Amino acid sequence: MPDTITIIDNRTGKKYEVPVHDGMVNATDLRQIKTSEEDFGLGSYDPGFMNTAACTSRITYIDGDKGILRYRGYPIEELAEKSTYLETAYLVLYGELPSKAQLDDWTYNITHHSILHENIKKFIDGFHHDAHPMSILISTVAALSTFYSEAKNIYDAESRQKQTYRLVAKMPTIAGFAYRHSIGMPYAYPDNDLTYTGNFLNMLFKMTELKYQPNPVLERALDVLFILHADHEQNISTNVMRGVGSAHSDPYCSVAAAAAALYGPLHGGANEQVLRMLNEIGHKDKVPGFIAKVKAGEGRLMGFGHRVYKNYDPRAKIIKRTAEEVFELTGRNPLIDIALELERIALEDEYFISHKLYPNVDFYSGIIYLAMGFPIEMFPVLFALGRTPGWLAQWEESILDPEQKITRPRQLYIGADERDYVPLTSRG
Ligand code: CMC
Repeated sequence: MPDTITIIDNRTGKKYEVPVHDGMVNATDLRQIKTSEEDFGLGSYDPGFMNTAACTSRITYIDGDKGILRYRGYPIEELAEKSTYLETAYLVLYGELPSKAQLDDWTYNITHHSILHENIKKFIDGFHHDAHPMSILISTVAALSTFYSEAKNIYDAESRQKQTYRLVAKMPTIAGFAYRHSIGMPYAYPDNDLTYTGNFLNMLFKMTELKYQPNPVLERALDVLFILHADHEQNISTNVMRGVGSAHSDPYCSVAAAAAALYGPLHGGANEQVLRMLNEIGHKDKVPGFIAKVKAGEGRLMGFGHRVYKNYDPRAKIIKRTAEEVFELTGRNPLIDIALELERIALEDEYFISHKLYPNVDFYSGIIYLAMGFPIEMFPVLFALGRTPGWLAQWEESILDPEQKITRPRQLYIGADERDYVPLTSRG
């Protein structure tokens, strides 16, 4: 059976044979389909990239119908159970699980790039006391570009490696400083004796004790949450990372842009919105009324639905289990009962069934973060921290891909035709 499709253009009666690779046609192959010599050729119109692949990738595999997520071939369930965040970050970035020596080297480099230039502190000091920590994170990551001008050498492998260490290592420090600024506490510096996640908790929650001791249950739960967020193929923030990267901007500016996309309530900002929604509902008994409002088109059920998953998001399943482990330590947050009731009713409801709307990663993550003591505003920041290796892996893959070009979608112009300028005095 030939791997082609035959297209008959009913406008001209002409026939075209177009190759099919992996279930896709190359959009530029459609350009040969013309009604005249002057015709630019057939294009495809696809707002929101509903059916368009913009790249090939070897990093993350998702089967949305079956609820499968794998990084570099490894199922997310296995990584969440057996791996650590730093090891998974290495896997996502470099394609293979590290050997002992590689992991030691990677951990050493991440641990030893976590300190921020002191001027960054002054920069963060300049933000208003109630600045959203996600806005601080986005701006501060972009500001790092001013400290590391060699980052512009994006085709220098050594420089790319250095910026990768710095970005993965400094994101928790920036996040920690942003949080401490928002609560008026002195910044807590990194502690190299702690794990990546333990140190992050230290930079957030250290008080007057000489040495901060992270709780191992919370440390592991946060590590698992970061593993679950490490990459998610071509979501909007990754698409922005690749898009900005395609103009050869440096990785700090590209990560800042990706984080800005992540901040939106339809993407990584959804975890914050879920908590606001649960607080607004206030009690289990009010859930049916809230669901009725959503069905009537008055807002969305935040933390539900996904462009790709038309089944239970595998990350949400793992998070639900992790939540129970955290609650054993912290006590059960009453919001979990509202969330469980929302999920129960939604999964039985015709509207949610027919629209294939299931809980996504953001539905339960916020409740765990809250139980761990994070303020709601920090939730998207935690998502950004976890996603940084994914953005960097996708950026590197993209700039080294000979098929990639500067991102430049076409448009379908539907505005006015050419017309003569009307002087102000003659306008109606
Ligand atoms: N609550 C109620 N209805 C919904 C929801 C929802 N959460 N999500 C989608 N729908 C409906 C939507 O109204 C539409 O209905 P109809 O066809 O009758 O007009 C249909 O389902 C398809 O929705 P869509 O907006 O066209 O789907 P999309 O693929 O463009 O959007 C989404 C995906 C995630 C933006 C959307 O489901 C949503 O807004 N969810 C809530 C926000 C959220 O939880 N975002 C986090 C996503 S997971 C983390 C991440 O990776 O970003």
